[in-house]
Amino acid sequence: EKGGFEHFMLKEIYEQPKSIRDTMRGRLLVEEGVIKMAGIWDHQERFLNAKRIIIVACGTSYHAGLVAEYLIEDLARIPVEVEYASEFRYRNPIINKRDVVIAISQSGETADTLAALKLAKEKGAFIYGINNVVGSSIARITDAGSYTHAGPEIGVASTKAFTAQLTILSLIAIKLGKHNGNLSTERFNALISELDSIPELVQETLETTAEQVIEVAEKYKDAPNALYLGRGYNFPSALEGALKLKEISYIHAEGYPAAEMKHGPIALIDENMPVVIIATKTGHYEKVVSNAQEIKARKGQIIAVVNKGDQEVRKIADHVIEIPNSSEEFSPILAAIPLQLLSYYVAVKLGRNVDQPRNLAKSVTVE
Ligand code: F6R
Repeated sequence: EKGGFEHFMLKEIYEQPKSIRDTMRGRLLVEEGVIKMAGIWDHQERFLNAKRIIIVACGTSYHAGLVAEYLIEDLARIPVEVEYASEFRYRNPIINKRDVVIAISQSGETADTLAALKLAKEKGAFIYGINNVVGSSIARITDAGSYTHAGPEIGVASTKAFTAQLTILSLIAIKLGKHNGNLSTERFNALISELDSIPELVQETLETTAEQVIEVAEKYKDAPNALYLGRGYNFPSALEGALKLKEISYIHAEGYPAAEMKHGPIALIDENMPVVIIATKTGHYEKVVSNAQEIKARKGQIIAVVNKGDQEVRKIADHVIEIPNSSEEFSPILAAIPLQLLSYYVAVKLGRNVDQPRNLAKSVTVE
């Protein structure tokens, strides 16, 4: 049932071209120039009149929510707040009827996310679910929703569910941007045809990055710590990369917005500190290059995720991992792939139980 792969996690990483395509199927209609999502369309008024969108989630799903903050604010110009469900529910949050609260949850059973949503519902907000498991508790209490069609995710570390969430969130942001007049038809069409090509680009990323990633995993597997840095759309990618590494390899890792380095974490940098930097061409590239220079000046070991053909970062980094070119909006989907693979191979080389890391459960039904 692992389809010839050694672990479910690896199988699920390699399934992503398909799971992303499945998530778009029937929704992204490039020829017709439409995004069809009944959950949004049937409740257009709620979305288009929303004063703000609040996203609640935990763990990896929270990181998908952070990417959505960039997507929705950028493309649809609706204010977005992203909150850990556990914090949101206990701080007497201010919620009103013109808020739309979106819960992102692979399992649809996460106790804190479910409770946060119930609270928002009681206060009159419109509640929307982005879940992978059909008929799950969250899916049942929401006013509407969109399922990710990632298929069953068995590995405890979330991989294909994350990229499916990013896919749904991209569709929602683009759709809202079109309906509220923020995206021109031309820009809308460009975004949807690019999104349609993402499964192929994910396939290409799997094929072209694995070898370099395995080399990097071998070299750094005994490091006690690692830092992950990114900016803009790929700041959440850094958080997610770090989470993946810690949960399955048990190496301490932290993700930071790259510019925050100088406010503290840079004190940690020496020749023993591996620093994974996401430095894609479209997002604040020059600034990330200068962050990389600051790290190199302190002898940190730089592993850079860059776009194909990159010249600048190559001069500074110890290792480069090339991903295909894309718009900034979709770069977190592509950047996720080598970071998932990196955590996987580090964990395998350390002999960890990749599919069932210690102390973790697939669905967290207690708070
Ligand atoms: C990380 C991971 C967890 C989950 C979190 C939320 O790889 O799997 O951080 O993302 O427990 O779970 P869901 O999405 O089911 O609500």
